[in-house]
Amino acid sequence: MKSTELSTNKTLLGTSQQQFPLLEINHLKVTFSTPDGLVTAVKDLSFSINEGETVGIVGESGSGKSQTAFAFMGLLAQNGQVSGSVKFMGQEILGLPEKELNKIRAEKIAMIFQDPMTSLNPYMKVGQQLIEVLIVHKGMSVRDASQEVLAMLDAVKIPEAKRRMNMYPHEFSGGMRQRIMIAMALLCRPKLIIADEPTTALDVTVQAQIMALLNDLKRDFNTTIIMITHDLGVIAGISDKVLVMYAGQMMEYGKVKDVFYRPSHPYTIGLLKAVPRLDHEDDILATIPGNPPNLLSLPAGCPFKPRCTSATPQCDQVPQLECFGEGRLRACVKPFEMLI
Ligand SMILES: Nc1ncnc2c1ncn2[C@@H]1O[C@H](COP(=O)(O)OP(=O)(O)OP(=O)(O)O)[C@@H](O)[C@H]1O
Ligand SMILES: [Mg+2]
Repeated sequence: MKSTELSTNKTLLGTSQQQFPLLEINHLKVTFSTPDGLVTAVKDLSFSINEGETVGIVGESGSGKSQTAFAFMGLLAQNGQVSGSVKFMGQEILGLPEKELNKIRAEKIAMIFQDPMTSLNPYMKVGQQLIEVLIVHKGMSVRDASQEVLAMLDAVKIPEAKRRMNMYPHEFSGGMRQRIMIAMALLCRPKLIIADEPTTALDVTVQAQIMALLNDLKRDFNTTIIMITHDLGVIAGISDKVLVMYAGQMMEYGKVKDVFYRPSHPYTIGLLKAVPRLDHEDDILATIPGNPPNLLSLPAGCPFKPRCTSATPQCDQVPQLECFGEGRLRACVKPFEMLI
């Protein structure tokens, strides 16, 4: 199946007739002009997300995960260009004027980044920063906003929230700061949260607590989430569907349980083999040979070919996205059954 057919075949992409696609991405392309040439960071990417669903985007460093989100959030660097279509609640948001996009970014789509300090003002008390969000975007009074902030800090399990509202960001631990970011993201009750490596900077115990919190909030607020991570464990912990990216392209897409139990792309198989497992006795982890590709000199055909242990001469052709199973997609010329 060609990717041009994807937008018309929503059922195959996981958008059943009963569910409303909150976000529909079609043929998204992101390029950067550099002194060495044009870098294509995201290439012909199409997928959609239903309301209440969590989609994980996974791939090695440089695979285009963040730029996918930055493109439709209007956050690309100055040398970046974007084309294609991104519809949010039925409205095209690519190329929206800054003012309209700002309104959507503030009220409907929130982002959580790896380092909460990039989003928090170090000179302002945390409570004040959160209260300001509600005053500016919801027109609330200081009193109502304070109460709402307190309730939200309780919801993200900040102990002694009332006292801590008077503290500065640096007085919190990394995990607590990430909880504050999550509270801030949720304050305007966004339809969509994009979390870009939200737990990567945290130690494993705090990471598990934040993941549990996100799962609780997902249930309580029915928020749709895009979880961007290089960590398949994080995807398994929260996502309904997973999009595996390599060199800016979709390699595989499907329900998490399908992709994890029966991966259909050699790249996904490589990623999964690199995950430590408690039920395996040998503790030697397999790594994917070679390095992530240089986007300025990709090989002809499949971009994963030079590192693929299943590669054949057929891989010199560009693999078309093939639809199979229940809403699954794969971009590999090797038949699924022949993969080891
Ligand atoms: N301003 C820019 N100019 C040129 N290339 C860029 C620019 N910004 C990003 N890129 C390139 O785009 C590609 C995709 O970047 P992206 O940030 O999406 O990676 P990622 O998958 O999020 O990786 P990571 O896990 O390291 O965050 C990378 O190769 C990156 O070098
Ligand atoms: Mg990134």
